[in-house]
Amino acid sequence: MKNYDLIVIGGGPGGYEAAIDAAKLYNKKVALVENRELGGTCLNRGCIPTKTLIHTVEMYRGLKAHGEEIGITGTDGIGVSLTALQARKNAVLEQLRAGIASLMKVNKITVYEGRGAIIDSGRVEVSLNSGEVLELTCDDILLATGSAPAVPPIKGAELEGVLTSDEMLNLSDMPKSITIIGGGVIGCEFASIFGALGVKVTIVEALDRIIANLDKELGQSLKLLLTKRHGADVHTGALVTEIRESENGLVTCFTEKEQSFEVCSDLVLMAAGRRPETRRLFADNSSESVKCIELDRGAVVVNERYETSIKRIYAIGDVIGGVQLAHAATAEGRNAVAMLYGAKAEIDMNAVPSCIYTEPEIASVGISPDIAKQEGLDVISKKYTMSANGKTVLSLGDRGFIRITADKETGRILGAQMMCERATDMISQFTQAIVCELTIDDIAKSIFPHPTFSEAIGEAVR
Ligand code: FAD
Ligand code: NAI
Repeated sequence: MKNYDLIVIGGGPGGYEAAIDAAKLYNKKVALVENRELGGTCLNRGCIPTKTLIHTVEMYRGLKAHGEEIGITGTDGIGVSLTALQARKNAVLEQLRAGIASLMKVNKITVYEGRGAIIDSGRVEVSLNSGEVLELTCDDILLATGSAPAVPPIKGAELEGVLTSDEMLNLSDMPKSITIIGGGVIGCEFASIFGALGVKVTIVEALDRIIANLDKELGQSLKLLLTKRHGADVHTGALVTEIRESENGLVTCFTEKEQSFEVCSDLVLMAAGRRPETRRLFADNSSESVKCIELDRGAVVVNERYETSIKRIYAIGDVIGGVQLAHAATAEGRNAVAMLYGAKAEIDMNAVPSCIYTEPEIASVGISPDIAKQEGLDVISKKYTMSANGKTVLSLGDRGFIRITADKETGRILGAQMMCERATDMISQFTQAIVCELTIDDIAKSIFPHPTFSEAIGEAVR
């Protein structure tokens, strides 16, 4: 029986980065158990494949919409080959997976390809993909099993052609039309991808606005963009009642403002959230106490040290619910490992940036003026419209803005929201400002290079 200091179950961005830290920084003997591919959802079914598609789609749309205007000829007949695009995406994933495998090797982490199930504190059963079953022992277990698409109990959700993001990323034929149930992050990114490819997109969102967990103005601007640019239909406050088959495709039935609607499309994308992955996490012979590990709406409950209700079992990432983002999972894993081995958790979890890779990009960190108002905070807000930014004009950037919220008395930065080119890169400046307690004046002291998108930040603070 093999013994380890730490066994990590789940090789996504939470699990594999935590494993590396434990081995590299604390010299621990570490095993990583992963039943699918290294890199988890993020690399194989999430962040990286979607952004690879987005990269191509943005180039295509840019050339098609503006080729002639910017002096490029011959763009009339351009198109996108889904086959070539899928091949490129798969090559990217393979390259990055190989990178993680080599990091595992370099850091002497033993990778078990199979399903990990907890028998008890310090005991893990691994059902290897080869069919063999092993038992491993350890001092500590870190659960990083991530999440999977949640499929709401809608009649017809099981029909062929009703897909989750997992299947949507592997399409071999381009649909003519698609209905997206859920106008959250996944729904909006896919709407942007397919809309740019000329697919008729309909979004059906239960809440009264899309990307409802972000600032209102961002949601309103994105809705305008999706409808105006891509001709998408966006229904909010809409309750899906049924999906059924018809001669012309799948019919999604929903009610909106007490009126009934039906929309027919080739495919339906279920993008209604993700559920923490705790299925088959316990072995048949698991101890009773382990089987009763505390869960809250399916998520593993942890304290501020990422300890679960069972001694020496920790959990991080999507499986603990809350913010379901790759960089949050990684940060939690790093902090959990640091605390486990007696060091300080260095990463500030109070400022988690959130990004949406639409065109233009959306990014947010900290609070918005609306939230400040709800919380009774006295703030000032500075806004800069990107239409006056030289780099935006010369690169035919879209309507967009940068908004910064700061404490009225001290000028301390409390948050920023952006909808503009490179917003997902530029937001880090504000994450850092919040973490380092910088003020508006601190940012105004620095020179921003010209011409850049980022000089809009300098303009906003001045
Ligand atoms: P995961 O990445 O889900 O990894 C968990 C791993 O554990 C999986 O590989 C799983 O197979 C494995 N596993 C589960 N159970 C077991 C078991 N019993 N034994 C062994 N292995 C097991 N986030 C961003 O920050 N930016 C983005 O741009 C972004 N885009 C996304 C796009 C899509 C379409 C989706 C679906 C998600 C996206 N996310 C994005 C979210 C991001 O992918 C997740 O937040 C992140 O992957 C969570 O990391 P994790 O390590 O907690 O879990
Ligand atoms: P989400 O929580 O962002 O959005 C789901 C939406 O579906 C919500 O607005 C909800 O109101 C709606 N909904 C739920 N049930 C519905 C129903 N029956 N009918 C109509 N609408 C319904 O979840 P999503 O988009 O599935 O993404 C899951 C997670 O993946 C997100 O929390 C996000 O953190 C992560 N992600 C991050 C990305 C990024 O960082 N760029 C990209 C994609 C996903």
